[in-house]
Amino acid sequence: MTEVAFDRTNEDLGNLVELGHVNYRIPDQGLATTFYVSGLGLTRDPFMMTGTSNMWVNIGNSQFHLPTGPAVVAPGIVTGLVVPDLDALRARLSKIAKDLAGTAFSVSDADGFVAVTCPWGNRLRCHAPDPVRFGSVRLGMAYVDLEVPRGTANGIARFYREIIGARAKLEEGRDGAIARITCGPGQSLLFTEKLSPADPCPQHHIQIYLADFSGPYDRLKKLGCTIRESSRHQYSFAQLRDPATGADLFGLDHETRSMTHPMFGRALINRDALQGIGGYKAGRDQFDWHL
Ligand SMILES: [Fe+2]
Repeated sequence: MTEVAFDRTNEDLGNLVELGHVNYRIPDQGLATTFYVSGLGLTRDPFMMTGTSNMWVNIGNSQFHLPTGPAVVAPGIVTGLVVPDLDALRARLSKIAKDLAGTAFSVSDADGFVAVTCPWGNRLRCHAPDPVRFGSVRLGMAYVDLEVPRGTANGIARFYREIIGARAKLEEGRDGAIARITCGPGQSLLFTEKLSPADPCPQHHIQIYLADFSGPYDRLKKLGCTIRESSRHQYSFAQLRDPATGADLFGLDHETRSMTHPMFGRALINRDALQGIGGYKAGRDQFDWHL
């Protein structure tokens, strides 16, 4: 019998096991509902943050967190989503356009994705499912792509590899290198070198889960990075500091949770956005985000 030669490293996640949520403060929960729920076809978390001071929006196994307040706009950050049907997405977005007139909302077709801007100017890319690029999901948060200055990607990859214990590799981009950090099955953080990158956005944050929670904590402290304490299951850091030189290369606020955090592995409700009054299908309200 011939043995199949699997490349076992393809299945390695490293220490960063999930990109849990992306947080943007937004000034109007009504407009956010129109955009994220009616337009993108995502699902409001029915159990948590049920008032108008915050809204959690489910996308597969991840979330957007949208607290109410002055808008946080991060022009150098793009969140990449996988959605099940790009034509259905285009139709939904076209339907809500009149309700978002006068805002920064926009939609355009790009090479292999639909580029969408939220009512306050934050950017998204919506992709069709692709098991090779995004793993076995048909609805999910695939990546966060951040513009960084030229000459920083290698040090950023070194930071994630040596301090966080994540898998990190360099790819070739248009203006320079791209550091790709694995952060869950089919999920990545991308640090894309640009000739004129936007400034980091300190009011925006992402949330990650780590398998080894204390190791990065100790190494961040040793490297002199500032850590904000939250709870026994959570801390935050924002400096991406090159362990080789001690130089701060970029700023990105990471809400960092252990896998013992009560919300790790929480089952998120996702709906079938194709359901509607016309052609309603009984028993098909829930949507399985797995391919
Ligand atoms: Fe958060």
